[in-house]
Amino acid sequence: MLKKINLYRSMMNYGLAHNRDFAHEHFAFFSEMLERIGDVGRYKIIDIGCGKSYWLTLLLHSAGACVTGVDTELVSAKTGMGKYYAILKGNGPERAIRTLCWDLLFARPYYAELAGLCSFPLRWKDLDVRCVSAITLDEFPDNSFDLAVSHEVFEHIGDLSGTLRAVHRVLRPGARTYIYVHNYTSLSGGHHIAWKYPDTEPSATVPPWDHLRENRYPDIPSSINRLREADYKKEFDKYFEISDWIPRGREGAQLLTPEIRRELAEYSEDELLTKGFIVIARPRKDS
Ligand SMILES: C[S@@+](CC[C@H](N)C(=O)[O-])C[C@H]1O[C@@H](n2cnc3c(N)ncnc32)[C@H](O)[C@@H]1O
Repeated sequence: MLKKINLYRSMMNYGLAHNRDFAHEHFAFFSEMLERIGDVGRYKIIDIGCGKSYWLTLLLHSAGACVTGVDTELVSAKTGMGKYYAILKGNGPERAIRTLCWDLLFARPYYAELAGLCSFPLRWKDLDVRCVSAITLDEFPDNSFDLAVSHEVFEHIGDLSGTLRAVHRVLRPGARTYIYVHNYTSLSGGHHIAWKYPDTEPSATVPPWDHLRENRYPDIPSSINRLREADYKKEFDKYFEISDWIPRGREGAQLLTPEIRRELAEYSEDELLTKGFIVIARPRKDS
């Protein structure tokens, strides 16, 4: 119980200190995506695991795309106590409290910062966010979308193969993915809050790559599947023709001492130092 309280206290501090930084990180991801994908206005898009802030769905919708955000949490563009009661019933008390904290403490400055970065107004009206699991996407008929986007979700999904099968099913022939996965073997990939910013705020208490070593501090805010990059490559390859596999973010180089390198010899240096990767791919015809 005490561990949980400490975990939530550090999440709260980290949220208070960085919610404006999140807006910059998110806007940078969005801008980079538009550069690679082009004009989204003509696409029907699904945002897989849009999250309680559904920022990518919001940005795409505001930029004129037809987008649906899905998440297993009962995310909702609505406000009011009914929303938290629904999350409490559907997802349990922890999720309800986390969403309430986000809405009360962080949402206002975060969205204000995000709005300041955009050349278009943020448009909340008609935002489409739904509670649907990525593992089945059963609410959507085959061939529904032109683009599947996702940011830091696939590392939380237990059934990767099922999810990719579902994404393949709902995408039209010739459609694309733009899926960013946070790399488990990276320094921040263990999802320990103390290692969120490895280069600028290294942890004084949790050892670097603790999650791949002794794992003395296993308390993290969400479950992760611990898959490695090669596991994703193998699974994506079953359902998709991969056109680009783009490493994104380099972190922790100065912390990778020769001793740690030896200890983690089973991992390549790229696996340890690359924060994540973007997968741009088209559905295979023969899957
Ligand atoms: C780290 S959050 C990322 C949220 C958002 N994409 C962002 O970047 O802020 C991971 C999200 O994935 C969602 N998620 C996990 N498993 C899922 C599943 N099977 N289907 C849909 N969403 C899922 C969680 O509920 C959570 O909101």
